[in-house]
Amino acid sequence: MLNKEMLSEMTKLGVRPALFERGTGNMWTEPYIANQMLSAHLDQGTDAASRREEMIEKTIAFINKRIAKGSTVLDLGCGPGLYTERLCESGHSVTGIDFSENSINYARGSAERKGLEIDYVCKNFFDMEYDGCYDVAMQIYGEIGTFSDKDRDKILSLIKRALKPGGIFIFDVPVPSKVHEASKVEKNWYVGTKGFWRPEAHLVLEERVYYENNIKVDQFIVVDDKEVVTYRNWFHDYTKETIEPVVLAAGFSKVQVTDNLFEEKDKNDPEWITVVAYNTRK
Ligand SMILES: C[S@@+](CC[C@H](N)C(=O)[O-])C[C@H]1O[C@@H](n2cnc3c(N)ncnc32)[C@H](O)[C@@H]1O
Repeated sequence: MLNKEMLSEMTKLGVRPALFERGTGNMWTEPYIANQMLSAHLDQGTDAASRREEMIEKTIAFINKRIAKGSTVLDLGCGPGLYTERLCESGHSVTGIDFSENSINYARGSAERKGLEIDYVCKNFFDMEYDGCYDVAMQIYGEIGTFSDKDRDKILSLIKRALKPGGIFIFDVPVPSKVHEASKVEKNWYVGTKGFWRPEAHLVLEERVYYENNIKVDQFIVVDDKEVVTYRNWFHDYTKETIEPVVLAAGFSKVQVTDNLFEEKDKNDPEWITVVAYNTRK
């Protein structure tokens, strides 16, 4: 039964969220949802949380083409280690950071089983002490597009600090595109007994809200017998023209933007660009 407190919480949520306002829940770190996420990362039938193997291999080839064997690589938001393992197998010295304990535990177990030496850190990547020891930093699957301008600028300058002179930062970001709308969250509600958000009876109210400058949020209000929790996924789409000045303003000396994800000419995926930012010594 909804009590007064829950109803008052829901009334507050009935309004348009302020730009990049966070939800009250965290879908990456809450144990039940994190477990659902891990299944999604590993599911070869969907690109929901990680891309499928074929695209991961193409991404690794894109990275390997640009770096020497034995490079030091930092993967920010490494999830269960789908990229870190392949980079380690390519002969690099790899560190993966993620604040999902569930993903990091899985990644550590998997590396051990395969005999791979990978340094995994379970931490918020905004809280890392970076020290200029990496040849390469990477952040794959649109993470940069989930940040407010302030957080984006902060992580870019932290990443720059993590790189050696001559180091590179590789990331991908969605472009404003109609294709992207295929995954749009319609204004909708449903009740369920067990599902992605909760293991027991719950109600989900979901919608996508649009803002200026190619920003949007998918909001999920989840109500169970104890509480009302909101989860928000923010998306800021960029173009070559809008991402370049942002990266240069963070102190990188050169930017290369590749239309088509990781040089893959796959027509099914025209909604991403790949960015390589150079930390060239002046
Ligand atoms: C869309 S997933 C991509 C995972 C991985 N890069 C891949 O493509 O397989 C985003 C990842 O970033 C992690 N993440 C998000 N924000 C984070 C933060 N502030 N600190 C550390 N990890 C974070 C999440 O836990 C999740 O594993």
